[in-house]
Amino acid sequence: MKYEVVLPAAGSGSRMGAGMNKLFLQLNGTSILVHTLRVFEADDKCTGIWLAVKDAEREQIEQLIREAGIQKVKGLPTGGAERQHSVRSCLVQMEPTDLVMVHDAARPFILQDTIDRLAEVALEKGAAIAGVRVKDTMKIVREGIIEETVDRDMLWSIQTPQAFRYDVLKEASDVADKVGFLGTDEAMLVENIGYDVHIVESSYENVKMTTKEDLLFGEAILKSREQ
Ligand code: CTP
Ligand code: MG
Repeated sequence: MKYEVVLPAAGSGSRMGAGMNKLFLQLNGTSILVHTLRVFEADDKCTGIWLAVKDAEREQIEQLIREAGIQKVKGLPTGGAERQHSVRSCLVQMEPTDLVMVHDAARPFILQDTIDRLAEVALEKGAAIAGVRVKDTMKIVREGIIEETVDRDMLWSIQTPQAFRYDVLKEASDVADKVGFLGTDEAMLVENIGYDVHIVESSYENVKMTTKEDLLFGEAILKSREQ
């Protein structure tokens, strides 16, 4: 059960407020980007890594890849203004394959077990995405006033990887591109063409490095894994 992974890495990290692409920030002396790359480099089922990058950062990223000894990178196409466009820039360059996973380069703590289960379900069903159950009480608020308390049993926080049979994701991306549909994740594009998207329960450790507080959590996760 082989797959290729698409890692969108062409963001600007504005919510991190570091004045640079947050993927270059280090956790325990290694950049967030290299932490993420190492997961897929180490997984035998992963046969290729695609990175969407900004033109101005391509050289710096190529250098990180060389220094870290990452061998599986097949291409670094230019990303777009939206994450969806960055993902598409990789999809249009890759050869048809069985499975594609799309994974935020900013989620370095993805567990191998989650990747394995996603690959399994996506191969059988066509589409599977990682998520965790929400922990807090959730309410719909309109103009500062509670309108409704939502049944938490039905609510999931969605993460990446999002895994698809290649033909399913390519069709979804082609349709979205044609009609100008913009989704917040790949699953939305696939839902949009009528496929069932299955959920695979992931780990709360698979947090996206988004704001400064996430870096503290990230350092703590790395420390706990050293033991
Ligand atoms: N990304 C991308 N192309 C974009 C926007 C985002 O490839 N046009 C990537 C980011 O590099 C990141 C992933 O998509 O690895 C998830 O996006 P997010 O966490 O939102 O990162 P940024 O967009 O960089 O951060 P922010 O939204 O705070 O600016
Ligand atoms: Mg963003």
